[in-house]
This record gives sequence, structure tokens and C-alpha cells, in this order.
Amino acid sequence: MNIKKLVKEYKEVFNAHSEIKGYFAPGRVNLIGGHVDYHGGFVLPCAINYGTYMIISKRNDQLMNGYSMNFTEQGVIKGNIDHLERNLSDDWFSYVKGIVKMLVDKGYSIDKGFDLLLNGNIPNGAGLSSSASLEIVLLEGLNDLFNLNLSTKEMVLIAQSVENDYIGVNCGIMDQYAVAFGKDNNAILLDCEKIEHEYVPLDLKDNKILIINSNKQRKLSESKYNERRTESTSALDTILEKSDKTFVNQLTEKDYLSFGNLIKNETNRKRAKHVITENLRTKKAHDALINDNLIEFGQCINESHISLKEDYEVSSKELDFIVEFVREFKGSLGARMTGAGFGGCVVSIVNDAVIEDFTNELTIIYTKKFGYKPSIYIADVGNGSNKIDLEK
Ligand code: GLA
Repeated sequence: MNIKKLVKEYKEVFNAHSEIKGYFAPGRVNLIGGHVDYHGGFVLPCAINYGTYMIISKRNDQLMNGYSMNFTEQGVIKGNIDHLERNLSDDWFSYVKGIVKMLVDKGYSIDKGFDLLLNGNIPNGAGLSSSASLEIVLLEGLNDLFNLNLSTKEMVLIAQSVENDYIGVNCGIMDQYAVAFGKDNNAILLDCEKIEHEYVPLDLKDNKILIINSNKQRKLSESKYNERRTESTSALDTILEKSDKTFVNQLTEKDYLSFGNLIKNETNRKRAKHVITENLRTKKAHDALINDNLIEFGQCINESHISLKEDYEVSSKELDFIVEFVREFKGSLGARMTGAGFGGCVVSIVNDAVIEDFTNELTIIYTKKFGYKPSIYIADVGNGSNKIDLEK
């Protein structure tokens, strides 16, 4: 990203009242551990080198103005720190209002308004956490600007409650956590029960993380997401009640085999099966990485997709097509849908030497089948949110 250009744009759009500051928050890709975070399971995401950049300065009054270079047609959106209720027409600005409201409700002092400019390069709504990235970059900036003294973990929890209570998406903690805590060349093994993590060096040898966006907009993903969460919670509660375990991440396959049949609803039973096996697979994938066993790591990723497709039913025909292609392509280690599902992206591990052929071939056959192209990105694993030097 050309930071000088952002600063120039900022100065053209706003009349800065005080010193301007810059921040960045990445997107994330979840390597494995799909739909287990909100059950307190283990997930293995990493931050990527695509993200959201923000330039901001404090005002002398109560106005808060936002301009997104991704939605220039919307112009400068005007708000006021004394009026933070959500309007459906707020669009991306609802995150700004939501974050400020949550901070104020928690007793943090935001006594002046601000002017902010955003520019992001994460594809929106593709399962790469563009919204968590926006939330965290805002929190990084406000934390600094208003001397709020929030720890990284506090920022993560505030961002999640904005999603849950202001935006209305019942998401887990993974996205915000990975965006804030990401570390160069490392994946994050996050225990979503304890909300604690361990960094896992991600040495993929001569392979790369390839993200393939199906370019199929996720349809009804929010309501289906909340529905899956309700179905699986009820099913897992039945198993927990009968087993001697307290948390989902303690459940084993044996628990499922012993008590799964007590779940009368067949759909809900499959949901529980996915969560239990996916949680175990994530730990297995983590061990494989630690032991340098990339073949087994790739197999875990492949199995994760089958489970998300068949038992959790959150895939789509476009995602399945891409995963199938990757699996048959010589030089690829594994692939699965990533994020909430119902469209969006596939994450895959592919040998560097075949990436060009892979990209050409997939683009041709995918376009032939669906009538539009996929977008393919090589993702480098980057750091979490941070302040940026505007002089560079
Ligand atoms: C979305 C949510 C996350 C997580 C994933 C599925 O990205 O925001 O909390 O549940 O879906 O793994």
C-alpha cells in the first residue's frame, strides 16, 4: 500500500484539526478449525498480508466523519459521537458507530469526534475477515488517540461484542483474535475456551498458501450461520450432559459414538459430529505442523472440508468444485473452504513450482463451468494490527 498516497487523499478529503496518525489491521485465513470457535474449540488461523489501512485525526467537536476509498461513491459519511444508534443505511459506517458505542457503554471516554479515512485490499464478504480487520484497525486507532489503555485482548473482546450485539452476527472470537494477534510466519493455535493462544511456526517449505475466491457472494450467510450455531449447540449440550466432560474441546470421538444417538434430530447429530471431529482434527493438524509432517497437515485440511460439506453443510457447489480441483492437482497438499462458508474462499497449500499452471488451469475450467472467474491470491503470513509510520 502506498501510504503517501493515503495521506495525500486524507488531506484532500479532510481539513485535519490535529496531528494525523495511521494504523493497519490484516485479514486472516483460517487454516483449519471451521465453525468450532463459538463452541470453545481449537482453531488454527493466521494473519495475511492483505488488510485495512486507516488514517485518523481527532476533531475539536463531536462530529465523526468517515471516508472509505473502497466506497468512494458514498462520499464522506457524517456521524456524531452523541448519536450512536444503528441505522440500516449506515453500511460500513455501522462498524465505526458500533465500536464507539461499545467503548462508551463500557465507560471509556471518547470525548471528541474524529475524521477517518479507510482503504482496504481484502476482498469483502469472502471469508477473509474484512469486517474484523475494520473493527480492529478502528480500535487500534481509538485506543491510541484517546489513551484508552486497552490491551490487545480487550480490543478483541470489544470487537467481538460489536459483531454480536450491535451488528447482530453471532460469531466466535477467532477472526478478531487472529487479526489482532497475528505474527509473521506463524499460525495461531487458539483455544477458544480459555481465549489463549500459542504461536506455531508455519514452515511450509516450498509450498505457498493459496487463497481462491470463488467470487460467489455468500447468500443468507448470516442467518444460516446463526442457525448452524443453534443446531450444533443444542446437539453438543445433549452429549455434554451425558458425558463426564465440561467443555466441547474435551469431547472425543468415543463420546460421540457413545452418546451421539441420543440426539434425535439427524441434522443436529451431524452438526455435533462435525464440531467434535473438527476440533480433534485441528489438534492433529497442529501436531503435524510441529512434527514437520506437511502431508498429514494437508490430509487434515482435506478431511476438514469433507466434514464442513457433509456434516455441517456450509459449503457451496463452487467451493466444492475448487476443492476437488486442488485435490487432484499434482503438487497440492490440501484444500478446504475457509470462513463462514456458503460462498467465499478456499484455502489451499500448493507447491510453488506449479502455481502458475495451477492458476491458469483452474481459471479456465472454473470460468467454463460457472461463467465467471475465480480470483487467486498468494497469501504471505503477516503480523497483527499495528501503528504505521506515515513518513514512509
Ligand atoms: C466466521 C466467524 C468466525 C468463525 C468462522 C467459521 O468467520 O466470524 O467466528 O465461526 O466463520 O469458522
